[in-house]
Amino acid sequence: MTHARGRFLTLEGGEGGGKSTQVRRLAEALRGAGRDVVTTREPGGSPGAERLREVLLSGAAERFGPDAEAVLFAAARADHVDHTIRPALDAGKWVVCDRFMDSTRVYQGAVGKVDVRFLSALEHVAAPNLTPDLTFILDVPPEIGLERAAARGKGAAADRFEKEGLAFHAAVRAAFLDLARGDANRYVVIDATRPADLVWRDIRAALEARLGLTLPAENAA
Ligand code: TMP
Repeated sequence: MTHARGRFLTLEGGEGGGKSTQVRRLAEALRGAGRDVVTTREPGGSPGAERLREVLLSGAAERFGPDAEAVLFAAARADHVDHTIRPALDAGKWVVCDRFMDSTRVYQGAVGKVDVRFLSALEHVAAPNLTPDLTFILDVPPEIGLERAAARGKGAAADRFEKEGLAFHAAVRAAFLDLARGDANRYVVIDATRPADLVWRDIRAALEARLGLTLPAENAA
């Protein structure tokens, strides 16, 4: 039996924007509307890619330089797309993913200065003909985002990217906003400085408006 292809939603943005909370809320709401949902994340999302996540976020790949890091993110993505995302979409499921190709465009490309043609070749290899249907950018100033990320990971060392300075994270924020300006159809920028319930209200409204969905009513928070 053939199914309609599912939809592919991604959440993006700098550190501490509350992406994982919103991934959960999106999944709950979509399930409430009768959709089959798979939630996943990058780097990671399949057994092979989760192993590469450790290599990438521990900083073990950093000494090989930004081009090699970009290749490893692409290798993780290829495994994730083949084993998790594509099979779910082909089965008619909805996929909600915490970070995807836009993170590479921003962290390795706009900020890391890896050549854009090289990155677009990697995109073709890792995720041929796969672009998210809708991408939410959870926007927070880096001062707030880094403080939240530090509070969340209390006691744990900052990872490869969290440990970068404020200027790096300000550039990340600006690069995500630039991407959003370039394609108003795919990206929705959400002010994520606000409490999670208000962030969710905007995501929910955008989802209904952009994809013509009706989600089940929720009790006021
Ligand atoms: P997170 O899971 O806490 O969001 O951490 C993932 C980190 O990896 C985050 O700092 C962004 C970074 N990253 C890249 O640099 N390139 C990528 O392609 C992806 C998916 C993540």
